[in-house]
Amino acid sequence: MAADRVIADFNMSLKDQIVKEKLPNHVAIIMDGNGRWAKQKGLVRVMGHENGTKAVREAVEASAELGIKNLTLYAFSTENWKRPKLEVQTLMKLLVRSLKKEIKTLQDNNIKLSAIGCLKDLPNKAYEELQDVIEKTKDNTNMTLTLALSYGSREEIVKVIKELSLKVKNNIISPESIDESIINKHLYTQNLPDVDLLIRTSGEQRISNFLLWQIAYAELYFTDILWPDFKKENLYKALITYQNRERRFGKTSEQLT
Ligand code: FPP
Repeated sequence: MAADRVIADFNMSLKDQIVKEKLPNHVAIIMDGNGRWAKQKGLVRVMGHENGTKAVREAVEASAELGIKNLTLYAFSTENWKRPKLEVQTLMKLLVRSLKKEIKTLQDNNIKLSAIGCLKDLPNKAYEELQDVIEKTKDNTNMTLTLALSYGSREEIVKVIKELSLKVKNNIISPESIDESIINKHLYTQNLPDVDLLIRTSGEQRISNFLLWQIAYAELYFTDILWPDFKKENLYKALITYQNRERRFGKTSEQLT
C-alpha cells in the first residue's frame, strides 16, 4: 500500500500536491533578478522589468486560483529611486500600463488591489492610476493583491513611531497602552495579516528592508530562478516546501501535536 502511495505521489502534478487546508494566508514576494535576466540575454535592463510583468501575472493568477487570500509584491523600494532616471521612468510606465491592462483580470477574478509605501512620492500619473484601480476593486473579496511601491520597512517603522509619539504628546494614548496590536494598526499593512511565506527570487538571500515587522514568523524561501522566469510551477514548489516546514512559533514540536 505504502509503495502504491509513493507511486501515486510521484505521478501527482505539483499543483495537486498542495494541501488546500494548509495554504499560507499571506504570501509576500521579493521579485529580484530582472536586470540579470536581461543581461544574460544581451538585452537592456528595462527588458528584464518588461518581462517581469509577465511573471507578476503568473504569480497573481496562480495565487488566486489556489485560494491564497493575500499576496504582496515588492515592486519598488524607497532605495530604488536611486537607480538611473531612465530605469525609474520605465518602471513607473510599466506600472501604469500594467494597471490599465490588468484591471479587467482583477475584476474577473474578484481581486482587490491595495498598495503600501510612500505613495505620494509616485509620479502623478502612476499615483492616480493606482488610486483609480484601488477604488474600482475595493469591494472584491477573493484575494487582496498588495503592491509595495516606494516602500521601505524602516521608513514605515519611523512613520509609526512618529504617529504614536504625537498621540502620546496630545494625550490621545498613554505610553503604557502601546502594544503590538497598536503598532500593527499604524503600519501600512494594518489591514493585512502577518506574512506566512516570504519568497525571494534570483539567489540573493536577504530581506532588503521589506516588511521587517510583518515577517517575524514567516517561513523564508529562496530560489535561484530569476524573476522573469518565475512561473506558476515555481510558486507551487515554494508552497509545497512551506507546507512541509514545521512552524513552531517558539513552541516545541511536542507542544504542537
Ligand atoms: C528587481 O530586479 C526588480 C525590481 C526592482 C522591480 C520589479 C518590477 C517588476 C517585476 C515589473 C513591474 C511591476 C508591476 C507590479 C507591474 P533587479 O532590477 O534588481 O534585478 P537585478 O538584481 O538582476 O539587477
